[in-house]
Amino acid sequence: MKAIVVRDEAAGTAGMKLEERPDAAAAGNDVLVEVHASGFTPGELSWPSTWTDRLDRDRTPSIPGHEVAGVVASLGYGTAGLSVGQRVFGLTDWTRDGTLAEYAAVEARNLAPLPGDVDFTVGASLPISGLTAWQGLFVHGRLETGQTVLVHGAAGGVGSMVTQLAREAGAYVVGTGRKADRDAAQGFGANEFVDLENDALEDVGSVDLVFDIFGGDLGSRSAGLVRAGGTLVTIAGPPEVRPAEGRAVDFVVEADRAQLGEIVQRVRDGRLRTNVGTVASLDDAVAAFNPTTRAKGKTIIRVRP
Ligand SMILES: NC(=O)c1ccc[n+]([C@@H]2O[C@H](COP(=O)([O-])OP(=O)(O)OC[C@H]3O[C@@H](n4cnc5c(N)ncnc54)[C@H](OP(=O)(O)O)[C@@H]3O)[C@@H](O)[C@H]2O)c1
Repeated sequence: MKAIVVRDEAAGTAGMKLEERPDAAAAGNDVLVEVHASGFTPGELSWPSTWTDRLDRDRTPSIPGHEVAGVVASLGYGTAGLSVGQRVFGLTDWTRDGTLAEYAAVEARNLAPLPGDVDFTVGASLPISGLTAWQGLFVHGRLETGQTVLVHGAAGGVGSMVTQLAREAGAYVVGTGRKADRDAAQGFGANEFVDLENDALEDVGSVDLVFDIFGGDLGSRSAGLVRAGGTLVTIAGPPEVRPAEGRAVDFVVEADRAQLGEIVQRVRDGRLRTNVGTVASLDDAVAAFNPTTRAKGKTIIRVRP
């Protein structure tokens, strides 16, 4: 099968190559997915799981990309709950070969049915940003109606999902980003916008929940805004500063079939809008992930037309 592979962590996305690889094979409780669309987050090339397996053994050449939308091609031994020919989407195991390929072997529990009226490109754009937003707000952040949420990077992949889901849940959303992101963040539903290049973050006052994607200095200053009993949720690694009288939670997104179902239902009925930018073929994927100008929105690789 054709696949994108990486061998050299230091090379980043410039080290991606399109190659012929042995066909993926479904192990127990896996399904083999005929990949129609694949999503990739550049961060994964710096995560240990891309380079070594669960026993810390070198697993290169690795196939990156862990978001998938496609069709079940075959079932592994003992796999239940999904059937051959079914449309599926999901988030695949970070320590196994991924989805920038014609086929991917995926544990069935990491996949959810993809309704027939949701395009594969949209399906592949949802798992990381949608699940990260859902888990940060509702599982780790315990968001309640009427609370105020500070959403960093509110026009970005994760932040746009966080903004929309928080508003739908009845929260007041203060989004942040660059000056140029104001309209996009407000378009996703942010009640207020903080231009981090010109405004003072501290003017926001106290909030119930901070959803941090940056870490570092911005993350530390944001911890100071969490009111008593509130929460700092971050996806940028362990926080350097914790809220004085609140909780801090850092987490890595997990696959969850039920949450994927909640997310895709909201896309179908128009409550949730995904943030797709460039769509490219597998043959053009290396160029798409190495753009000469800063790409807006999520890049999706359409493996089959
Ligand atoms: N732990 C986890 O489970 C997990 C899950 C998903 C993502 N992540 C990580 O979370 C981060 C965000 O992911 P994403 O997909 O949302 O990225 P993204 O789509 O690039 O969004 C980031 C947003 O923040 C803005 N931004 C970046 N730096 C800024 C700065 N210094 N000042 C103001 N605005 C700034 C970006 O604007 P520009 O586009 O103009 O730069 C963009 O709108 C990534 O590092 C990713 O690896 C972690």
